[in-house]
Amino acid sequence: MRDDILNRRSVRTYEKRKLSDDTKKLTEALILQTNQMKGPFGHEAHFFFHDQQAFLDDDAKKIGTYGFVKNPPAFFGGITQNEFEHLIDFGYLFEHIIIELTKHELGTVWLGGTFNRSAFNFMVSGHEIIPAISPVGYPLEKFSLREKVIRFGIQADRRKPFNELFYLNDFVHPLETLIPHDIPYYHSLLYVQAGPSASNKQPWRLLIEDKKIHLYLEPTPNYGTSLSFPIQLLDMGIAIYHLEAGLKEDRLSYQMKTLEHPEKESLKYIISFLID
Ligand SMILES: Cc1cc2nc3c(=O)[nH]c(=O)nc-3n(C[C@H](O)[C@H](O)[C@H](O)COP(=O)(O)O)c2cc1C
Repeated sequence: MRDDILNRRSVRTYEKRKLSDDTKKLTEALILQTNQMKGPFGHEAHFFFHDQQAFLDDDAKKIGTYGFVKNPPAFFGGITQNEFEHLIDFGYLFEHIIIELTKHELGTVWLGGTFNRSAFNFMVSGHEIIPAISPVGYPLEKFSLREKVIRFGIQADRRKPFNELFYLNDFVHPLETLIPHDIPYYHSLLYVQAGPSASNKQPWRLLIEDKKIHLYLEPTPNYGTSLSFPIQLLDMGIAIYHLEAGLKEDRLSYQMKTLEHPEKESLKYIISFLID
């Protein structure tokens, strides 16, 4: 079982200390490595590391996370095209960085809404955007009161049950939580369910048809309309990353591709996994 995936939590309160040289090196190397990777639709993104010059919350004020994130010593972020496939790939690659940092016990939180994009405007041109950034730092052991209030507001510890997220063969049969061993692709489903999502809306839906797993988005009505891009596509990239982690753990080989799939009016089809 992947502890990094199952036990990751958004960290909004950090120890008030700068990153060590080792942590900086590790983060920079990870970012360089991720810049060489491609998402499920074959697109790259460009990630950057922002080590704060002014100490801690001073710089965070400019970046506009002040009030949401306490004492962030550094940030990373990424740039991509404001296009359907690119945004999904961005979600996938950004989550790769988040999970790798989690393995090293570093704290992160996806920030797609609560930061000041204009602080990074000098980095983007044309059709490019910065869909999200995240602090990188040493998590404070306990949640602060402010963090508890945020977590309560978005019900951050809640995850929808399997039978609201997953279907077997058709959309009439939600996957009931039977004995785990009886559930196909159990690890993948567990990891998708544990994923972070914008405002914890958990818009991912999966339909399993024997050797095929189809992934869909159930867009949350009127959500994220003030943003210049469909933020829930990032959640879909995250789901793909988590699903894949489960298949890898079970040593299954697969292809990610567009396949014929059942339709449902409220759902937008994203991609499928074809298991060998
Ligand atoms: C695409 C995306 C955007 C997010 N944007 C923000 C944000 O702007 N501010 C914030 O405090 N949390 C943000 N979050 C964090 C979610 O609120 C959090 O992942 C969710 O509530 C689940 O909690 P957990 O990460 O602790 O499991 C975002 C998460 C995702 C995936």
